[in-house]
Amino acid sequence: MGKVLVVYCSMSGNTKAAAEAVAAGAEEAGAEVVLKTGFDAGPEDLVACGAVALGSYDAFSYMGGGLKDFLDRAFYPTQGEVTDKPYGAFVSHGGGGRAIDSVESVAKSFKLAKVDDSVLVKGSPDEAATAKLKALGAKLAAAAGG
Ligand SMILES: Cc1cc2nc3c(=O)[nH]c(=O)nc-3n(C[C@H](O)[C@H](O)[C@H](O)COP(=O)(O)O)c2cc1C
Repeated sequence: MGKVLVVYCSMSGNTKAAAEAVAAGAEEAGAEVVLKTGFDAGPEDLVACGAVALGSYDAFSYMGGGLKDFLDRAFYPTQGEVTDKPYGAFVSHGGGGRAIDSVESVAKSFKLAKVDDSVLVKGSPDEAATAKLKALGAKLAAAAGG
């Protein structure tokens, strides 16, 4: 069974709900899921997973501090060990959503390989957004070998 890491940050719960939907989609597709906030996750989680979902709220058109903290701490310790690792990204925003560019740009620095279009969610995920997030989780599960 493949392992999918879902790492996210959330101030008021919207991105947390989105992360839980990605996790549910991956789990339903047969993956083992590790769901952690950016502050709780470490480089070892990234190395250990078969695929990773990166989630954030939009904070001034950039990713939130929790995800940034994880990525900053994980960068040097994982270099050379995560090249071409499958990833997907999702952002909850208040009407903008440009934070997704920062997540994708940093993922490129890590040399992660995007499995699908990133999912943008306005506020808390509704039924349609939840379906997209679950589909992203399922794609990551497949890419992780689950
Ligand atoms: C400090 C701060 C800055 C924000 N900046 C933006 C922004 O630039 N663009 C945008 O669309 N939403 C912005 N928002 C709105 C949040 O991204 C949005 O409410 C999101 O759904 C919050 O997700 P959360 O419940 O996971 O914290 C900002 C929110 C905060 C707290």
